[in-house]
Amino acid sequence: MKLLEGRAAVVTGSAQGIGLAVATVLAGHGASVVVSDINAEGAEKAAADLEAQGHRALAVPCDVTDERAVGALADACRDAFGTLDVMVNNAGVTRDASMPKMTLEDFRTVIDVHLQGAWLGTRAAGRLMREQRRGSIINISSISGKAGNFGQTNYSAAKAGIVGLTKAAARELARHDIRVNAIQPGPIRTAMTAAMPPRVLEQMLANIPLGRIGEPEDVANAVLFLASDLAAFITGTVIEVAGGRHM
Ligand SMILES: NC(=O)c1ccc[n+]([C@@H]2O[C@H](COP(=O)([O-])OP(=O)(O)OC[C@H]3O[C@@H](n4cnc5c(N)ncnc54)[C@H](O)[C@@H]3O)[C@@H](O)[C@H]2O)c1
Repeated sequence: MKLLEGRAAVVTGSAQGIGLAVATVLAGHGASVVVSDINAEGAEKAAADLEAQGHRALAVPCDVTDERAVGALADACRDAFGTLDVMVNNAGVTRDASMPKMTLEDFRTVIDVHLQGAWLGTRAAGRLMREQRRGSIINISSISGKAGNFGQTNYSAAKAGIVGLTKAAARELARHDIRVNAIQPGPIRTAMTAAMPPRVLEQMLANIPLGRIGEPEDVANAVLFLASDLAAFITGTVIEVAGGRHM
């Protein structure tokens, strides 16, 4: 059974990692997908790969800190595919350091990409979805936004902020039949976790009751659920995809 036949989705930061898995799973369920990333070449390749697998995909380069570019991204989906039904605000970076070593620029960059980027994406998608009177917005937070991580005062703040943004936007947009939810992944096997010191990753694994690191598809399947009509009565929620870590 295909859950997203006839729908169109935008996934930010989808040249690789979790975003690429999300784009692939949504496309596999019938959605037309806009693959978007600051890495234009990576987005082009990902979209070409999806098309080669028989899916409808379009690459649109976009830096989620750029207000005009995010507006244009939402419009590009509607112009190419007729609608914008699913918006996944996933793009992310880390600039880890303990507070004495973290610069203001490290703090601002992470807030701008994650929190401001998710706000811009939610606002731009909401504008089009209001006209359609339907839509699902999914913001990728992190379990770091629930529990806080050493060396991640910027990232944990941004990811906790995404939860507040999600709930407030869910209240504003519900009357237009637009749902807004967040996902908090635990450690997932991507470039972001590969960059962590092995000792830190080992400690994390020791605290995961399900006993393994997550795969990008674990997150993508939760996005699929929230994007689909299976979640028609679900808004303003946070789903943890963390193997039980910090439950
Ligand atoms: N990997 C994990 O363990 C984990 C855990 C919790 C949450 N997350 C979140 O999941 C999301 C995806 O992370 P990932 O692990 O796949 O990371 P990743 O580094 O593999 O991918 C992130 C993507 O975002 C893109 N990007 C960075 N800055 C951008 C910008 N300004 N505009 C547009 N695109 C930009 C990158 O080019 C990259 O393709 C992030 O929001 C991250 O915080 C990841």
